[in-house]
Amino acid sequence: MDDKIVLTGIKPTGMPHIGNYLGAFKPSIDLSQNHKTFMFIADLHALNAVHDAKVVKQHSYEAAAFMIAMGVNLENTALFRQSDVNEIYQLTEFLMNVTPKGLMNRAHSYKAMVEKNTEAGIDIDSGVNMGLYTYPILMAADILLYNSDLVPVGKDQKQHVEFARDIAGYFNNIYGETFKMPEPVIGEDCGIIPGLDGRKMSKSYDNTIPLLCPSNELKKKIMRIITDSKTPEEPKNPDESTIFQIYKLFANNDEVAALRKRFLDGGLGYGTAKTILFEKIDSVLSAPRKEYERLMANPAEIDKILEHGAEQAKRVAAKTITKIKKKMLGI
Ligand code: ADP
Ligand code: TRP
Repeated sequence: MDDKIVLTGIKPTGMPHIGNYLGAFKPSIDLSQNHKTFMFIADLHALNAVHDAKVVKQHSYEAAAFMIAMGVNLENTALFRQSDVNEIYQLTEFLMNVTPKGLMNRAHSYKAMVEKNTEAGIDIDSGVNMGLYTYPILMAADILLYNSDLVPVGKDQKQHVEFARDIAGYFNNIYGETFKMPEPVIGEDCGIIPGLDGRKMSKSYDNTIPLLCPSNELKKKIMRIITDSKTPEEPKNPDESTIFQIYKLFANNDEVAALRKRFLDGGLGYGTAKTILFEKIDSVLSAPRKEYERLMANPAEIDKILEHGAEQAKRVAAKTITKIKKKMLGI
């Protein structure tokens, strides 16, 4: 057990696809095996875009069930709802006062909105609420509240962890050494995982394979993978095949070598290759899928885990707030 503290947040946005899982979630599940870990469902972070409580609640259960089913180590991990720890609201407010507005102007997601609005010729801040604008401050509070050392995140979140370091630095400059500097941990580059149409797998292209979904849905998705028009007899280049690229993520080395050979030798039709891929993913994910479905049918069990996690998180959070109040308010 390493004594570094790991922390990550999972935004509840529905079932992640294979690309999200490998790029953003697997690293934190791996780190939880041998680190004290704080892992929370970032329900407050969903609020700038989702204004339907039922959806937030449902997606939060899904995110928790998903992380448990994929094997997060609950012995080492406090798994909780972000909104259950009241200290998060306090630290966010405190950090607002040391964070320059200009830092928020540089956030990628805010800048993307401004660019979109500028192109459309409308007010640059159209559709931007303060939840979106101050999103990085809430995220810095998440990271700093629990004295985190390592913050596993997907590539798209790296800037936010850097902002947390900046904000910690502004605070320390004014009030003296208080916060440690967290390090982002970006999942080892598994390359860009292709989607059903061969482009990057992405929600915005509607070409994704959800990580845990019923067998028949998985099969339908895989059968939709776009291929070229080579006949079964023709040899095929596995490195240009989406089927093979995805297979590599789930099969062991011997299986990968065997399928590579069948591609190169010819005699393997795309229909058969898709069936091989489907059977592989289906078998690798069948146990987590069962566990996910079991948990979703027993929300009380998820609640118990989240409540226990929140108790552990609150103990650490309360100490941080005591320290910050003393430094900022003198009480
Ligand atoms: P999407 O493109 O589906 O909207 P996001 O942009 O929300 O996905 O990506 C979140 C994280 O998931 C990224 O930082 C990255 O780590 C990972 N990710 C998403 N798509 C892929 C992909 N096709 N290949 C590898 N990683 C991906
Ligand atoms: N913003 C992250 C995302 O969209 C989720 C998140 C919230 C998070 N707070 C965090 C991740 C703190 C790491 C640390 O995926």
